[in-house]
Amino acid sequence: MIHGGLVRWLHLDPKEVLDFSSNVNPFGPPKGAVKAAREALSYTHIYPDREQARLRRAFARWLGIDESAVCFGNGASDVMGAAIMAFRPGRIVTFSPTFGEYRQWGERLRVPTREIPLVAPNFAPSLGDLESTLSHGDLLVICQPNNPTGRVWTQEEMEQVLELCSRQGAILMVDECFVNLTWPPAPSAIEHLPRGNLLILRAFTKDFSAPGLRIGAALGHPDAVARIRHCLQPWPINCAGEAFATWCCENPEPFISDSRHRLAKERKYMMRNLRRLGFQPVEGDSNFILTRCPVPAWALAKELLKRRILIRTCRSFGLGDDHARLAVKDRRSNRALFNALEDALRALMDKDLEYGI
Ligand SMILES: Cc1ncc(COP(=O)(O)O)c(C=O)c1O
Repeated sequence: MIHGGLVRWLHLDPKEVLDFSSNVNPFGPPKGAVKAAREALSYTHIYPDREQARLRRAFARWLGIDESAVCFGNGASDVMGAAIMAFRPGRIVTFSPTFGEYRQWGERLRVPTREIPLVAPNFAPSLGDLESTLSHGDLLVICQPNNPTGRVWTQEEMEQVLELCSRQGAILMVDECFVNLTWPPAPSAIEHLPRGNLLILRAFTKDFSAPGLRIGAALGHPDAVARIRHCLQPWPINCAGEAFATWCCENPEPFISDSRHRLAKERKYMMRNLRRLGFQPVEGDSNFILTRCPVPAWALAKELLKRRILIRTCRSFGLGDDHARLAVKDRRSNRALFNALEDALRALMDKDLEYGI
């Protein structure tokens, strides 16, 4: 399993499950955005705007960038693939564990991937290892904050990485799909635009809780963006997605600020309760928590599924069976998770399984 969010795949009723395996904003989607998407469905008989002029304008205004510095696709995964296709790097270099699609896209496009290990317990990157690995023509992908560890790249690290990429003749792609859900706010690479060798990914998927609508963005120098756009299909966003995203860009506040404050509060609540139950969660600032479990994560996931709760096991990230990743949700859902966790741990102990880590 390389992705969470398997509610549909498991044929579960979304109304009956709590999905802690998928890290979308639990406080969305914004009602106004859903209304805008619904209204747009009256226009399914005409093609959407190929250049997404209204969305581009609203997005550029929201982020304070030029309209030519962004293009949109069917989720961040889509623009990620188009970017790799457009630049045909010699290698994709990433840190590991991280989001699995960087490697997957490399496999699809036959670009080799080189992974630099991040080491437990704090999973901090070694810039020395990066320096000795990175070479001319590489595409370095970093995830801000990193999925699944939740660790944030500091401003200073980001600048060092950018500088290193420029020196070595590499392109840097910063995946900022979770950046708006961090507290304190994780630094964004946007302030370094436009720069020929810098690409940034954003997603309405996470910020505005819309994985089902599939809207992602690639930001960069206008020439780089034009190359990426060329590798996308003519109509990469549908009319409902475009209307939804435009509404979000025109009304990002107070939704984003409220969300990140509430997430920070819930994260604290979850960290405290995880420790109480014998888990060892990794410190971070994001809307998900990587944790070591007192029992194998697969056994826990199975027990929780009986209680209609999904969590993300972490073998596909290259982590052991003792790790799981949990989304941070609203208080009601989090309470339900901890009740179910207590219950599940008790059931596993009753089975007299000898799980120690
Ligand atoms: C770090 C990261 N980037 C990108 C994506 C994909 O986003 P989208 O659903 O917009 O394709 C995910 C999804 O889990 C992710 O975790």
